[in-house]
Amino acid sequence: MQQIADSYGHHFEFSEQLIGGAAIDKTGNPFPAATESSCRESDAILLGAVGGPKWSDPNASIRPEQGLLALRAALEVFANLRPVEIIDALADASPIKADRLQGVDLMVIRELTGGIYFGEKKRDEESASDLCIYHKYEVERIIRVAAKLAQKRSGKLCSVDKANVLESSRFWRDVTVKTMNAEFPEIELEHLLVDAAAMHLINTPAAFDVVVTENMFGDILTDEVSMLAGSLGMLPSASLGISSRGLYEPIHGSAPDIAGKGLANPCGMIASTALLLRHSLGLDAEARAIEDAIRSVIAMGVRTADIAAEGSRIASTTDMTDAIIQQLR
Ligand SMILES: NC(=O)c1ccc[n+]([C@@H]2O[C@H](COP(=O)([O-])OP(=O)(O)OC[C@H]3O[C@@H](n4cnc5c(N)ncnc54)[C@H](O)[C@@H]3O)[C@@H](O)[C@H]2O)c1
Repeated sequence: MQQIADSYGHHFEFSEQLIGGAAIDKTGNPFPAATESSCRESDAILLGAVGGPKWSDPNASIRPEQGLLALRAALEVFANLRPVEIIDALADASPIKADRLQGVDLMVIRELTGGIYFGEKKRDEESASDLCIYHKYEVERIIRVAAKLAQKRSGKLCSVDKANVLESSRFWRDVTVKTMNAEFPEIELEHLLVDAAAMHLINTPAAFDVVVTENMFGDILTDEVSMLAGSLGMLPSASLGISSRGLYEPIHGSAPDIAGKGLANPCGMIASTALLLRHSLGLDAEARAIEDAIRSVIAMGVRTADIAAEGSRIASTTDMTDAIIQQLR
């Protein structure tokens, strides 16, 4: 961000706040009031992943992930955009055969503030339950976001649900059909069951363009499709609501298995700043400059361990970040 400010003559004001485990350690609260008010005052929020073994006791009543869910709910960022593009030079890093990756350019839209992650949770000695509830307005607004993106892209929208089993999915499908017929009759709408979608997304990924789905299905499917791009560490995300204020974060978690070793791929986080510039600040040329810099650096062979070709030199997180900044200069 600072390099973009320097190169393009912008001035950005940054404020750093605690969330998740670090916030629990310091304040006892995974989403402290100071963090919430700073987020509300900002045009955009760039988020580092929360969570880790130190705070992973499943019986603990206070957990880092509560901070993340509270932040998403407080900002009402209900639409999580997860673009998946294949960088040609990275075809060798994907476990999927190169010919399947030709022409892959997907946009997954995950509903982010409803569904089973937010429904009532109950537990006693003998049973436990998580309520999956969707309201009509929640489905309508996410479908509108997805349909508007489909209008700008291929004119096709695929909605993923589990309507053969779940009432909440049958409701999702009905509301989707009504919204699309009433407001976006020109968009070609397809429905897929989530289990079939999981298979087709790997088998024929280029057949997809805009995919919309509920919170938990989107969470799982986007980790799966990240493999098309070579690594979970490559993918950015933007979470948007009704205003231009957005929350931006890579799709990966805190990767505790590699933390502190200089092994993390910084591309997902850096590409998230590109989405921030585009969606919250309206700086599309600057966003494209970052995306081009990532592509160029990868094509030059600067790669962290997760995407490095066999036998090639492995760049550290800092090496790769510096190379992208250098490219931006
Ligand atoms: N948005 C978030 O803050 C968020 C999202 C997912 C998971 N989490 C939390 O993160 C913690 C770890 O979860 P997890 O291990 O299931 O998921 P994870 O995404 O942290 O890691 C999954 C695998 O991908 C690898 N990986 C992740 N990011 C990478 C990167 N940038 N470069 C290279 N490899 C990378 C990890 O090393 C690991 O092998 C948990 O506490 C979880 O709750 C947070």
